[in-house]
Amino acid sequence: MAPLTLQACTHIDEVIQLVTKTRQLTGHAAEVGVATGRSALPLLSLFEKVYLVDLWPHSEQDYLDCMENIAGRGDAVILRGLSWEQAEHIPDESLDYLNLDADHEYESVKKDLYAYYPKLRSGVGAVASGHDYDAGHPGVNQAVDEFVAQMQIAEFNGELGCSYSWAFTKP
Ligand SMILES: C[S@@+](CC[C@H](N)C(=O)[O-])C[C@H]1O[C@@H](n2cnc3c(N)ncnc32)[C@H](O)[C@@H]1O
Repeated sequence: MAPLTLQACTHIDEVIQLVTKTRQLTGHAAEVGVATGRSALPLLSLFEKVYLVDLWPHSEQDYLDCMENIAGRGDAVILRGLSWEQAEHIPDESLDYLNLDADHEYESVKKDLYAYYPKLRSGVGAVASGHDYDAGHPGVNQAVDEFVAQMQIAEFNGELGCSYSWAFTKP
């Protein structure tokens, strides 16, 4: 299986490339933390179906902008609400790729990891990734490190590109 050793600055494009082109997994994906849909767009063009999860709490305008940006760009399922609660709408063992980019505090990242990990397919090279694995976000580092150790995940990379992203392959 192709390793998670990526070079470019925009981690999401390379991770998606690895999952869809090299590992040939183009089924369902999810993004948790969508905002106006900037990082959702490449997902929508490459995966059959993409769950987009966000509270969109700050302004209705973010939600409306997102809907406008993704209109006609792919098969999106909008899940509006608290991220760890919305996970129940996604079948277990169904996702090829998960991008976690919602709240960056320790407890929230931990809840998201535990809620969404069962949604990833096992044994096929499905990948989870996320932003801000850096000194400015100690909660992300701690939650991800603890989770990777607890789940005995062998393939983990916490230094993807210049945006300090993390990614792991579900065994
Ligand atoms: C960093 S932004 C996402 C940016 C987006 N992925 C991009 O690259 O353009 C984080 C988003 O997560 C959402 N969010 C934060 N905590 C959340 C939670 N617990 N449940 C659902 N959405 C949440 C916020 O509303 C915000 O839109």
